Amino acid sequence: MNPKWWKESVVYQIYPVSFMDSNGDGRGDLRGIISKLDYLKDLGVDVIWVCPIYKSPGHDNGYDISDYCDISPEFGTMADFDLMLREIHSRGMKLMMDLVLNHTSHQHPWFVESRQSKDNPKRDFYIWRKGKNGGPPNNWESYFSGSVWEYDERTDEYYLHLYSRFQPDLNWENPAVIDKLHEMVAWWLKKGVDGFRFDAIAHIVKAEGLPDALNPQGSTTVRAYELFSNLEHVHTLLQNLYDKVLYYYDIMTVGETSGLGPEQALVYVGDGRRELNMTFQFEHMFLDAASAGSGKWDVVPWNLLALKKIMSGWQTTLHNRGWNANYLCNHDQPRAVSRFGDDVRYRDCSAKMLATFLHMLEGTPYMYQGEEIGMTNAAFQSIDDYRDVETLNYYEERRNSGVSDEEIMKAIHKKSRDNARTPMQWDGSEGAGFTTGVPWIKLNSNYVEINAAKAVKDPDSIYHYYKKLIALRKQHKVIVYGEYRLLLPLHPEIYAFTRTLEERQLLIVLNFFDRSPVFEMPQDLSPDGMELLISNYPSAKGEDLRKLPLRPYEARVYIKTIPLGAEGAQN
Ligand code: GLC
Ligand code: CA
Repeated sequence: MNPKWWKESVVYQIYPVSFMDSNGDGRGDLRGIISKLDYLKDLGVDVIWVCPIYKSPGHDNGYDISDYCDISPEFGTMADFDLMLREIHSRGMKLMMDLVLNHTSHQHPWFVESRQSKDNPKRDFYIWRKGKNGGPPNNWESYFSGSVWEYDERTDEYYLHLYSRFQPDLNWENPAVIDKLHEMVAWWLKKGVDGFRFDAIAHIVKAEGLPDALNPQGSTTVRAYELFSNLEHVHTLLQNLYDKVLYYYDIMTVGETSGLGPEQALVYVGDGRRELNMTFQFEHMFLDAASAGSGKWDVVPWNLLALKKIMSGWQTTLHNRGWNANYLCNHDQPRAVSRFGDDVRYRDCSAKMLATFLHMLEGTPYMYQGEEIGMTNAAFQSIDDYRDVETLNYYEERRNSGVSDEEIMKAIHKKSRDNARTPMQWDGSEGAGFTTGVPWIKLNSNYVEINAAKAVKDPDSIYHYYKKLIALRKQHKVIVYGEYRLLLPLHPEIYAFTRTLEERQLLIVLNFFDRSPVFEMPQDLSPDGMELLISNYPSAKGEDLRKLPLRPYEARVYIKTIPLGAEGAQN
């Protein structure tokens, strides 16, 4: 099972601008984070992942870095950072930085120089090309709508940006770029950070010659993911980064790698690959999209059989060969309880059921700020209340192609990244305890009902349920390392599985909907000796586990000891 501290850890993701504001300017900051470290320690988290806090003009909330080795003044100073790191370490927690190596801000001095002239020494730090037939060099579509190419008059060439035009892609074919990036990563490691999330790392290599993508619909831009995602050479570059820099530190790394399945993921995280510890997969994030090709905005209902198939694939393929990073929400996704649960009638139970799912899978659980109190999607009425560049670009593009406001807003209510970016709801006071000023983005109006102060006081709250789940992980190695086996693969409402490590076995039973199906225990399992470890409902005396009627969104985890060598111990 190859034990590692990062396999036994629970990660808590902070979106700094929305976490805690210490100075009343309406934007979260490092001193705000410091003031909440006791809250996080108390919850039991081990690692804090902080989204980018580097100097940045903020066109994509920090994912557009203009100085990798400085802190954005809105978040504080380098002294504040050093203090935060010390305070995290002194509480026995660790810090994972979010590093954007695929692109910089257009205001990064490298790009400012690069665009000066074709013979500027920094020209080849970015990807510049001449136009073709009076238009951009190829037909690739950006993640944030429109072409990936931006025309720059000064030198009469285009630069490539997979994200917004304020985020030019770095040219990883240039060894000078690689040297600079390595140097910078080493600089942070020497400061004592404990790991990195590598943003958009799957995209650092683009297909040779930047060819057009096939264009079946005849539109001007095409989703060309396969021409800039997970290409072979990415692995050479990551191994190089590992051997030259990462190898020397006991850290944790996770890559953001959309568009791959578990077998491909093993190329990044397989034991002995010398690349990354984990990757974030996206397959389950596309369950409610009409097709991967149509993008995220085309929303359809998701189904449980597909979820089981995807998660089981990851669980079984990576077991003993790599390691999973499990998540249901982050700063780019809608709130998990609104998406996979019921945030109206069963917010409490369904949030706890989803938490059980997240924490009982094999892999490191990543939870996102506010998830532990069951925060929900924001769904603002007016587009004017949205801040996210992806959402705003999408809105404009759809409006320009004649789609009605109502229809666009429907998709935005379900999928906008701002759903997860409203300020953390600390208490029921004005500003939700997040700020004494005017928040940079509106609060979710339900903060009076849903907030951390209330949740901490209520022993039955979602918060306390998460706390218990995290504590259980520390007590039972089987939660960390146990092998997964799916039960009832074709049941449309119940997701059940076992986890087995030597003589310990867990049985996890989750009702994913608001109906009341009966769980029937498979023949090869026995209820004898099963002890209830955690559940989101009180259980009645004399229940028959062999045939157990489940209540809406009910979750149960049992543990038992099985004789070594017994049938059940083999799976
Ligand atoms: C990643 C980040 C996202 C950002 C993008 C560009 O997908 O998670 O927030 O917009 O990369 O850096
Ligand atoms: Ca502030």
